Amino acid sequence: MNIITALKYAYRAFIKNDDYSRFYIAHRLSLLIYPKSISSEYGRIIFDEQEFRDYYFSFENSDSRSFDRKYFLKEAIKITLDIPGDTAECGVFKGASSWLICQAIKETGKNHHLFDSFSGLPEPGLADGAYWSSGDLSTGSQEARKNLVDFRFAHFYEGWIPEKFSEIEHLTFSFVHIDVDLFEPTLASLRFFYPRLSPGGVIICDDYGFNSCPGAKKAMDDFFSDKVEKIILVPTGQAMVIKK
Ligand SMILES: C[S@@+](CC[C@H](N)C(=O)[O-])C[C@H]1O[C@@H](n2cnc3c(N)ncnc32)[C@H](O)[C@@H]1O
Repeated sequence: MNIITALKYAYRAFIKNDDYSRFYIAHRLSLLIYPKSISSEYGRIIFDEQEFRDYYFSFENSDSRSFDRKYFLKEAIKITLDIPGDTAECGVFKGASSWLICQAIKETGKNHHLFDSFSGLPEPGLADGAYWSSGDLSTGSQEARKNLVDFRFAHFYEGWIPEKFSEIEHLTFSFVHIDVDLFEPTLASLRFFYPRLSPGGVIICDDYGFNSCPGAKKAMDDFFSDKVEKIILVPTGQAMVIKK
């Protein structure tokens, strides 16, 4: 950007208070600081949805990094609402994703099953790289329980994955959110839930497209290598699989 163009945008942004010019300057500055950054197109309507913003920032404070993933989750679950079976989440943390799932299914008669140690991550394995350490994301279950208290059909299974899965082995599922960051619990979750997923049901792996979670990607790739379903890498970083 030459100096004349920069001044033009600066004038429009700060004197005329033009929203697009502010976006453009922020975009150019971010490229200057982090050349690999990709700003998406200006004016995405999902960023203006006040109700979703209120939900999101009530959980995430000012950290917007999973805004688009949460939004995709909210939308994707819609295609499973008339599919037989309950919903589940592996890796609950404070309950932000489970809140969206519960909100989506609240009129359907489905139950939602939540699995988390609430003591954070176990020891990462060789496939997991160096980003995570044992105990990261430890939060206790009180906050998630409080955040989901209005949903009486939400059932907590506190403990290490896959130890508590046996308590729901008789059920079928329409939607499963896997968000445990590491290879072993991702693979264990797939092994348990895939055979119990109804045709048309959806698995979303939150961690698939991130350098910080190579183990989660490997678990998905290994598991689906001999299955008919394709893994769809969504631009948000999530992976989605629709059961045939
Ligand atoms: C990224 S957080 C989940 C975020 C959550 N889905 C949300 O919407 O905010 C990952 C969670 O996985 C849990 N976790 C990871 N490995 C686990 C295991 N083997 N057993 C139980 N919980 C596990 C951690 O305790 C942590 O709460």
